[in-house]
Amino acid sequence: MLAARDRDALDTLSARLRATHGVEVEVVAADLLDPRHRVEVESRVADDERPIEILVNNAGFGLSLAFERNDIDDEVRHLQLHVEVPMRLTHAALGVMAARGHGRILNVASVAAFIPRSTARAGGGW
Ligand SMILES: NC(=O)c1ccc[n+]([C@@H]2O[C@H](COP(=O)([O-])OP(=O)(O)OC[C@H]3O[C@@H](n4cnc5c(N)ncnc54)[C@H](OP(=O)(O)O)[C@@H]3O)[C@@H](O)[C@H]2O)c1
Repeated sequence: MLAARDRDALDTLSARLRATHGVEVEVVAADLLDPRHRVEVESRVADDERPIEILVNNAGFGLSLAFERNDIDDEVRHLQLHVEVPMRLTHAALGVMAARGHGRILNVASVAAFIPRSTARAGGGW
């Protein structure tokens, strides 16, 4: 199951994955910063009828300027996408994974997590 905002890019990737690996691919066009979309993805991740075996928290973006020169609303979006969203998706996935006794969660990180700035977390900016 692939989730991101750009449906055309997701459709292209899913066609490639189907052709190359012969797997089923489900596409969810969602802006994880939009609470309605995010809740939809959380529900899908927590759906044990169609279990997600490995959750990959990868969505992210970089902010190129120093903290004080970035727009503060961009900094807040950065914090939400790199911290709140993976926490919520992890919570949604972990409940069903723990109940069935298996599953994996992979958080894509960054060496930038070791650099002091606004969003100081694994995966936060580069
Ligand atoms: N590139 C680097 O040098 C680097 C270094 C360290 C860590 N990282 C981290 O690695 C991860 C992937 O980076 P990348 O370089 O592969 O970036 P990328 O090619 O831009 O991929 C980022 C992905 O996140 C999705 N995304 C962004 N905003 C989203 C949103 N609001 N809702 C849903 N999906 C969203 C994008 O799809 P849509 O645009 O279609 O939504 C895209 O699929 C990020 O977490 C990043 O912080 C990257």
